[in-house]
Amino acid sequence: MAMISLFLIFLLHAVTVVTADLRPGFYRSTCPDAESIVRAVMKRALIREPRSVASVMRFQFHDCFVNGCDASMLLDDTPTMLGEKLALSNINSLRSYEVIDEVKEELEKTCPGVVSCADIIIMAARDAVALTGGPDWEVRLGRLDSLNASQEDSNNIMPSPRANASALIDLFKRFNLSIKDLVALSGSHSIGQARCFSIMFRLYNQSGSGKPDPTIEPCFRQKLNKLCPLNVDQNITGDLDATPRLFDNQYFKDLVAGRGFLNSDQTLFTFPYTRGYVQLYSTDQSLFFKDFVNGMLKLGELQSGRPGEVRKNCRVVNGQSDDLMLE
Ligand code: HEM
Repeated sequence: MAMISLFLIFLLHAVTVVTADLRPGFYRSTCPDAESIVRAVMKRALIREPRSVASVMRFQFHDCFVNGCDASMLLDDTPTMLGEKLALSNINSLRSYEVIDEVKEELEKTCPGVVSCADIIIMAARDAVALTGGPDWEVRLGRLDSLNASQEDSNNIMPSPRANASALIDLFKRFNLSIKDLVALSGSHSIGQARCFSIMFRLYNQSGSGKPDPTIEPCFRQKLNKLCPLNVDQNITGDLDATPRLFDNQYFKDLVAGRGFLNSDQTLFTFPYTRGYVQLYSTDQSLFFKDFVNGMLKLGELQSGRPGEVRKNCRVVNGQSDDLMLE
């Protein structure tokens, strides 16, 4: 009996069930400088390596789709847990984890144990957009960090760059995200880069045809062939749109011109249900910004309802590094 009570007390202290409502200004009294600290670190990252903010912004998608926005994708593998970092869509692809580490270290100095890694991802993604010329918005905070991660779930959920619009519509629908949300959120490919690995099939063997994707504009295809010849190191990267350091609606203009980088991008223009939004956003940047912010807020609301904690180190669950040392 004593053992059971002890265990329950331990559980009560270690975890809190995620039922908290998210709200703006969640850290106003407990860590009033939280948002400005995140913004300052992101600014430094942008100066150090412009692409890194795009890489961090991508975290919100890869985190929130896999069991809610709970920073599960930041956990390193352990002897007993295969984390998400090596999942199909993430391995050799997600990068700039060290920017989040830097934010966390600064926050731990100022207000230890207060700001969750899951909230850091949400703030940092917003800052990446704002710092590259996109919209700025108020984020709702108060998320907890997961106690584990699942490589299998990530493998099952995250879409491939080969995906077509119809598969993407179905996937986003599972998360209560509309066709409009899908197209607006895909506009995040207005910043950043992708690897040749992600487009080899569309350059040389689209749908097993032995031919390139016919929707690629010919001059652009020549450019891509040069960047990614058949024998290329597939980790070589190319820009996701013509202005990869600026968050703007160039991505949609590129899609209209047949100059989308990924198959999953170009298909949004080829497919009739998504084409209208691509066309709209290509001529109306403020509408894109408005719908994008709305999509990011909806994406940021996804929660699993599982127990969580505020991690001290975004890469490991609290107490785990001590346990490992004791073993
Ligand atoms: C609609 C489905 C989506 C698919 C299929 C997709 C797929 C991809 C792929 C394949 C890459 C390049 C990976 C590589 O070659 O290493 C990429 C990069 C990127 N994705 Fe997505 N993505 C999608 C939606 C999103 C969303 C919703 C966001 C953000 C909210 C996002 C943000 C980014 C960013 C910023 C990059 C560039 C990262 C960098 O430069 O490191 N993507 N995406």
